Amino acid sequence: MAEKPELDVLLGTERTFPPPSAFARDAVLGDPAVYEQAAADPEAWWAAWADRLEWIEPWETVLDWSDPPHAKWFDGGKLNVSANCLDRHVAAGKGGRVAFYWEAEDADEQGEDGRKEVTYEWLLDQTQRFANVLKGLGVGKGDVVGIFMPMIPETAAAMLACTRIGAVHNVVFGGFSASSLKERMEVSEAKALVTADATLRRGAPMPMKEKVDPVLAGLPDLKHVIVVNRCDTGCEMKPGRDLDWHEALAAANPVCEPEPMDSEDPLYILYTSGSTAKPKGIVHTTGGYLTQVAATHRMVFDLKDDDVYWCAADVGWVTGHSYIVYGPLANGATSVMYEGAPDYPGRDRWWEIVERYRVSILYTAPTVIRSFMKWGEELLAGHDLSSLRLLGSVGEPINPRAWLWYHEHVGGGRCPVVDTWWQTETGAIMISPLPGITTTKPGSATVPLPGIEAGIFDRKGKLIAEGGGTLVLTRPWPAMARTLYGEPERFVETYWQRYGADTYLVGDAARIDEDGYFWIVGRIDDVINVSGHRLSTMEVESALVSHPSVAEAAVIGVPDEATGQAIIAFVTPQDGVEAGGEFTAELREHVAEKIGKLARPKTVCYADDLPKTRSGKIMRRLLRNIADGKELGDVSTLRDPSVVEALTAQVENATEG
Ligand code: WTA
Repeated sequence: MAEKPELDVLLGTERTFPPPSAFARDAVLGDPAVYEQAAADPEAWWAAWADRLEWIEPWETVLDWSDPPHAKWFDGGKLNVSANCLDRHVAAGKGGRVAFYWEAEDADEQGEDGRKEVTYEWLLDQTQRFANVLKGLGVGKGDVVGIFMPMIPETAAAMLACTRIGAVHNVVFGGFSASSLKERMEVSEAKALVTADATLRRGAPMPMKEKVDPVLAGLPDLKHVIVVNRCDTGCEMKPGRDLDWHEALAAANPVCEPEPMDSEDPLYILYTSGSTAKPKGIVHTTGGYLTQVAATHRMVFDLKDDDVYWCAADVGWVTGHSYIVYGPLANGATSVMYEGAPDYPGRDRWWEIVERYRVSILYTAPTVIRSFMKWGEELLAGHDLSSLRLLGSVGEPINPRAWLWYHEHVGGGRCPVVDTWWQTETGAIMISPLPGITTTKPGSATVPLPGIEAGIFDRKGKLIAEGGGTLVLTRPWPAMARTLYGEPERFVETYWQRYGADTYLVGDAARIDEDGYFWIVGRIDDVINVSGHRLSTMEVESALVSHPSVAEAAVIGVPDEATGQAIIAFVTPQDGVEAGGEFTAELREHVAEKIGKLARPKTVCYADDLPKTRSGKIMRRLLRNIADGKELGDVSTLRDPSVVEALTAQVENATEG
């Protein structure tokens, strides 16, 4: 059997990788002294990066941390994000520069439309037009706009149009279910929604508008739906509510002046999973966020003018926000945006894309790398990948075996690998190598970036210099989340209470080694990371128990070779329900409907009762041990010890099958 990813990390590897000397010589940051300089005066460090943006009015203070955990960065300053991402490049004569090489999933069949060179000029035009459309619908500063979109250039334009007029976008990943979308629109009181008729997935249109239509009626605040026609599916349009994107933009005024925004005005909300069933609406603000995403995009990816950069995440996650849209566009970068699946029409689609556009920087997730490993390196052999010079990883711990494979087979042994640790809450990369400076160790995200300070508390609540424990961030950073939308107390309680109001509790366990390198082990809360997607056990449990035939459910994450973690559900069906194959399929479908396909349990085990203490508390630790096949120890405190046997037998069957 293959090693479990966790074990693989523990085994580690003795090999280290110093930056290749030519890379170090030409790097954006090549002098290790930057770490000391930034540590000596972090505010000056971040202010220097902020200075590279265009401010309408200068800030008065770099950081106000007088009332932790409420930070203000660049307070008093005014700027507009879309102007920084678009206008200033166009004004500098770079309007014709490619912002995105957009590649449709069915590029070959689509002919001319299948591959688009999206220039900064075009994006600015679309952004201004759509900003005017929104204004015309009565959407203004501070209003929330939902975005439920495929990976198409219009998605970036929609986000930028919101920033142009100071509206706050709330992007929901296109793979989420209609009811997840509804919940996120409802709690954020979104006034308008941007979506598409459909998106392509493995060659077939997957309806989006039709999927959300049934829930729209239940959203009284949501008065307008703008629909991009991507697949010509001829979806139904409700007169008075639904607008066709292309028609509306064609008729719109092409000029929309950027709204001067306060540095601390909200930029966007992005929902992510926490310990409870209710997702958290992470709120990011304007000046600090843009400063750090632009800075980290330049320094971590060593961005140069002639680079072709490809972040293969979906724009619906924070990685897409920070490293497809805002960081790269603020830096005037040229990126690739690919619409579809990595294995369509063939499993070498990605390598064809790298070769076609001469991609030089590739940023993806360990789960994808592990899929490629499984498919075999022969798929890479037929493609010229010599343009690549830097590789990045994000979303979950990368096991050394996957790291080494990525380095050797994708990077030809010559490209530094940057394993970037961060979160939706941090907004931008926090712990990562600087590719021209840091010697990497496969499996470690290495050290905090200059200006960032992290630490580890042991079990006794002591900050330690070496060893394992709970990861914290001990200094405010510009892109930090400012609050949870509508839940300011939850923000403080979740992140800023355990070790004091100025210490951010990450929610990850980590180890720090003798060289001060950080090794992220995994989550300490009830969050499961499936293929780099964050889900809470409670969210999945409440989806399961909402099925009328489920009496009770408990969910845990277990190590999985392909997806990092996989979901196992333990279910007690209602009396008279026949557990097993068909019912399992029904439950998986039910979870897909409630949350999205990504949340479907891999395995469902049944028992007449779940292992509980006599006081009725479900013993998750025991469930975890059952799933791991570990010694269970004393189960006599259980209300009904026999359920353990029943579950153990099922788990064994499931792993063999
Ligand atoms: C995990 C994604 C190890 C971690 C940007 C974190 C990682 C959670 C890494 C955030 C990494 C992300 N190494 N673990 N390089 N990157 N994680 O909010 O557990 O979707 O807390 O943000 O993913 O996930 P989120």
